[in-house]
Amino acid sequence: MRIHQHVNPLNKKYLVVPPMPQWSKVYAEPFLPLHLDLGSASGRFLLQLAQKNKDWNFLGLEIREPLVERANQWKDELGLANLYFFHGQAHIVLQPLLESLPIGVLQFVSINFPDPWFKRRHHKRRLVTPQLVQTLATYLQPRGKVFIQTDVEELSKNICGLFADNICFQVVDELLEHNPFGILTERENSVIRLGRYIYRTIFERKAEKPCEKRMNNN
Ligand SMILES: C[S@@+](CC[C@H](N)C(=O)[O-])C[C@H]1O[C@@H](n2cnc3c(N)ncnc32)[C@H](O)[C@@H]1O
Repeated sequence: MRIHQHVNPLNKKYLVVPPMPQWSKVYAEPFLPLHLDLGSASGRFLLQLAQKNKDWNFLGLEIREPLVERANQWKDELGLANLYFFHGQAHIVLQPLLESLPIGVLQFVSINFPDPWFKRRHHKRRLVTPQLVQTLATYLQPRGKVFIQTDVEELSKNICGLFADNICFQVVDELLEHNPFGILTERENSVIRLGRYIYRTIFERKAEKPCEKRMNNN
């Protein structure tokens, strides 16, 4: 299988919105709380989480299609009816994907080691944008959490700034020593082996009125 290390998310081929899954065919119990992992790569992190937590559904969103196909094959081989991987560019597909889900299921989002795109002229390729934060604010349940981890300090500041700037989010935990899942992502494993510091933060979707109103408007 040929897998590109990086793809340019702004490439025209990622503008297409694919048909949305029929969730009643995807998950055995579509109304369970949902954990969304943005940039799920090979899917190994969610494959382990889904085996350990049968009372949650898991959804991985990843731009590299061959990884998504292989991850879905693995979850079928394991007979996991609480896990699914979706292929697409988050800036384009996240909103229709979340809109297609049963109302109120999204309770947790993880953003593990998003691509840093170091050069300033490439910053617009970064996963987390003000629009993406607003989309999460719209669909995440009140008190739902967003977990972010990266070893790039500038990127951590940038992403946390975007969440802090959104009226619907507040930080509930920062400078966490470990990720809260007890399962490491692939990038996390290699960053730990290299002895690098990891910036870990948790934001919470506020339950206050202005945010609920925004949610109802969508
Ligand atoms: C550095 S890797 C981290 C992978 C994994 N989360 C981990 O911690 O091991 C970032 C992943 O995000 C994916 N990605 C980057 N931009 C994306 C986008 N706009 N939409 C969906 N996936 C994206 C990349 O293809 C890649 O698999």
